[in-house]
Amino acid sequence: MCGIVGYVGDEQALPVLLDGMKKLEYRGYDSSGVAVINVQSVVSTTGQTTMTVERKAGRIGELLDELDGTTIEGRIGIGHTRWATHGAPTDGNAHPHRDCTGDIAVVHNGIIENHDVLRQRLISEGHTFVSETDTEVAVHLIESIIESKGCSLREAVLEAVSILEGAFALVCISVHEPDRIIVARQEPPIIVGASATAGLVGSDIPALLAYTRDVIPLDNRQIAEVMRGSVRVWGFDGVEVEPETVHVEWDMDAAEKGGFEDFMLKEIYEQPEAVRNTMRGRIDGSGRVTLDEVSWTVDEIKAIDKIVVVACGTSFHAGMAAKHSIEHWTRIPVELDLASEFRYRDPVLNSRSLVMGIGQSGETADTLAAMSFAREMGTKVLAITNVVGSSMTREADAVLFTHAGPEIGVAATKTFLAQLVAANIFALYLAQERGTMYGDKLTETVEAMRRLPEQIEETLLVQDSVLQAAKRYADARDFIFIGRGVGNAVALEGALKLKEITYIHAEGYAAGELKHGPIALIEDGVPVVAILTGEPLYEKMLSNVEEVRARGADTILIAHEGDERARALANELFEVPTTKPLLSPILDVIPLQMLSYFIAKEKGLPPDKPRNLAKSVTVE
Ligand code: AGP
Repeated sequence: MCGIVGYVGDEQALPVLLDGMKKLEYRGYDSSGVAVINVQSVVSTTGQTTMTVERKAGRIGELLDELDGTTIEGRIGIGHTRWATHGAPTDGNAHPHRDCTGDIAVVHNGIIENHDVLRQRLISEGHTFVSETDTEVAVHLIESIIESKGCSLREAVLEAVSILEGAFALVCISVHEPDRIIVARQEPPIIVGASATAGLVGSDIPALLAYTRDVIPLDNRQIAEVMRGSVRVWGFDGVEVEPETVHVEWDMDAAEKGGFEDFMLKEIYEQPEAVRNTMRGRIDGSGRVTLDEVSWTVDEIKAIDKIVVVACGTSFHAGMAAKHSIEHWTRIPVELDLASEFRYRDPVLNSRSLVMGIGQSGETADTLAAMSFAREMGTKVLAITNVVGSSMTREADAVLFTHAGPEIGVAATKTFLAQLVAANIFALYLAQERGTMYGDKLTETVEAMRRLPEQIEETLLVQDSVLQAAKRYADARDFIFIGRGVGNAVALEGALKLKEITYIHAEGYAAGELKHGPIALIEDGVPVVAILTGEPLYEKMLSNVEEVRARGADTILIAHEGDERARALANELFEVPTTKPLLSPILDVIPLQMLSYFIAKEKGLPPDKPRNLAKSVTVE
């Protein structure tokens, strides 16, 4: 994720940068930093650096304490709030990053996938790296191009973007061109603008709003040159294009939420991007799964004879779905434990076991304790988490980061999808290394995963149907959610989401269990949400739906597009695209996230801050 700010103009840059960074802190808060050029002191002949850079781990408050009222003179600068992806959240890994001379500074949002290869190449050319980040390769690459071609910063960035692979919003300044900011976009959003007295850059509108309401969201694969009073834009092919200006009417609060009313809804809509980022760099062109983070040898991977998943809440539901994929694809037995129960049941573990801790925050006390217990028992420990540098990463031998970006809403949404994707990628990796999946099946599954971001976008179109159902059932006293197989995990997650933000009593059940007790709860008008997408158990699910309808329930069905049998049985129908059955939770849960959200809104409840809950639960 990360927040980027840039300013060039008549005012002192530092206060403008800090103000913009505070407004973008929701995009990342692992560290922050600024680079400011003081034009008066440029001494180009001696090569003496004239750029001041200040960086600090932690929230912006830490940087402000570091600056402690000192002013850094200069009317051009860039700033960054970091959400770590490569390299721990330390002072040294904080942006901006500089080239060897200290004359060029770069801030970056995204992931540069070929950073390893480029780093080796640039080191062999004599460049010195001082951080563990992928970003630093960009600034040395730009330096190397300028050195060899004697070109401008813009020309160097244009060439650099043809070499860099992955996703990047890159913003650069140089002491040799202290009147302009060069901006490049490949995927992550970046916005530029200009007023009569300033040129502005921000990764989101709030950073610019105090200075201009006329902004230019750069298109994918575009470069901009931002100066006081002007913006010029080129495609990555070098052809200049006429930038399209958008006039923004939002107030600051709406702008921070990207125009959405709440962070939860914004995060639901960020799910295509979150899933793209989770997959990025982990599936190569030939469809092979590459997990650089996992350094176990093939023999060690083949020796694993049991996996135990430990997690809490929504993360537990991700683990519940992952159990199905891991067992089906790898034939390794998987146990699933609530982290709070795990240690106290005297689990059977040894050096051939793998304990997989899942948690968005990486700070959940129960999950941490379970992982630490597993380490003491001599097992391998894998963490799947969203937060680089979190405590969970210190309890693990290997960490798969989900790269979903910060999640502000207390109810986990995009981190859940990212966990499902990360766990499935890990399962495919195990299958590939152990040779338990036919090549064509592996390729087919990888292809299905690649289609997911687009299918998530398609699923989001269900909003109008969900809104209608939310209005209809906002006053329900009870809700029942049912599913089978991976659909059971979706049912449990749907019920948890509804409970936590609408305070409606909700039960999630394996559909086959209904007849063993919970069916007694069914009476006229009780809404029953059923997941009908799981291929092998479809007929059985339909029978369960018939059973509850016969007892007066209203049915809210999640089914594949065009499923007429489901339509005939539904009071409300949420249609989702078809994917591989084991991947279906990634799509099926989306209407349920929305249903909870819109019911909370109908009831006038705050979805981002439900009562009694915290984003990370750091007590046992
Ligand atoms: C999810 O919506 C909840 N807020 C909660 O159940 C959460 O998933 C649980 O506390 C676990 O948190 P973690 O993923 O950070 O470990």
